[in-house]
Amino acid sequence: MTVTATKPALFSAIKVGQHALHHRLVLAPLTRSRADPKSGVPSDDASVYYQQRATEGGLLITEATSISPSCGGYPGSPGIYSQDHIRAWKNVTTAVHEKKGVIFLQLWHPGRATFSFALPKTSATSDGKVAPVSASDIAIQGDSPFGMPYEKPRPLTVDEIKNIAQDFVQAAKKAIDAGFDGVEIHSANGYLLDQFINTSSNKRSDIYGGSIENRGRFPLQVVDAVSKAIGADRTAIRFSPYSGFQDMKDDTPVATWSYLVQQLEKTHPNLAYLHFVEPRVQLLDDGIDENDPAQDSDEHETLQYFRALWSGPFVSAGNYTYSAQSAYDRAESSPNNLVAVGRAFISNPDLVERFRNHLKLTPYNRNTFYSPGPEGYIDYPYYGAAN
Ligand SMILES: Cc1cc2nc3c(=O)[nH]c(=O)nc-3n(C[C@H](O)[C@H](O)[C@H](O)COP(=O)(O)O)c2cc1C
Repeated sequence: MTVTATKPALFSAIKVGQHALHHRLVLAPLTRSRADPKSGVPSDDASVYYQQRATEGGLLITEATSISPSCGGYPGSPGIYSQDHIRAWKNVTTAVHEKKGVIFLQLWHPGRATFSFALPKTSATSDGKVAPVSASDIAIQGDSPFGMPYEKPRPLTVDEIKNIAQDFVQAAKKAIDAGFDGVEIHSANGYLLDQFINTSSNKRSDIYGGSIENRGRFPLQVVDAVSKAIGADRTAIRFSPYSGFQDMKDDTPVATWSYLVQQLEKTHPNLAYLHFVEPRVQLLDDGIDENDPAQDSDEHETLQYFRALWSGPFVSAGNYTYSAQSAYDRAESSPNNLVAVGRAFISNPDLVERFRNHLKLTPYNRNTFYSPGPEGYIDYPYYGAAN
């Protein structure tokens, strides 16, 4: 590890797409469920929330945002397909740009992780049934956080897959209309694109199933189409190779995601960034623990395989929430690395300054992660006000 006394790597400049960032701390994408439950229009508080977390030359990634009315979502998750969505998001991007921040919109299709109640009647098949869609007809086991069990999804046809790739394109263009600096394609955490990648959820026998090449085809096609529409330097993608969330499991994670990164390095080396979730991220613990669980590592599960294959900016997320030191160490030890922080950024709007100055963090309250209204959303204090 090289320690630079004057300028730690975490607070040194890096170019991401068209932007010269001033530091490498990133707001991780965080669903906060405060959009209008019927329309998916972001609330006025969303502008305040993102502006509070914006810094000059700092990158923010928004919460997962539905790309079309037919993809569904969660109660209170936002969309980017109507003029009202564009108008409301424009307030957010303007608020962030006032502080000279950079903001990417996370584009989301939940696939089998949504529910028929969130899907429009127009998405019914000829037998009148409305069901979530996926790679195969395998439901997530057990009950969802919303109380009811997950539903058995309907496997997408090849034509539908092509249409969804186009929905990503339309959503990306609308994001640019709304003033976003770029988009992050959500291909992680057990949502639609991840359901195609993982062997546990993809049992197809056509060109979208079986081999690694086939399982990687859909996300790579989405990257192709989106970067053609808005530019590779405004396009990014998120992966989570080792996540078991929502029943994800791949037989050969290192080979699978290495293939994806190699393809991206070959065909789209100018993507704004690749974003990977670290192994062993546990989202169910509470409070901020100065003992960083990421240190307790299994040498076979590491992002190093993928970092080594990518020459552009590489964002890693997961468990840097527990200590500023782990973020400093990551930035020092991996060139071109940015560090995304989730939970601690919820409860510390001025997280960048707190990490810069090694200030104490405010613990987060899990009960208000997804609750409606301003509490736990825009009322966490800045350091000076808290102490
Ligand atoms: C409340 C909450 C909402 C989240 N929503 C999203 C999301 O919309 N999209 C996504 O890719 N990840 C989402 N995540 C995962 C985070 O982006 C991040 O990977 C995770 O919190 C680990 O980082 P941390 O240890 O810094 O919290 C969410 C996590 C939390 C706690």
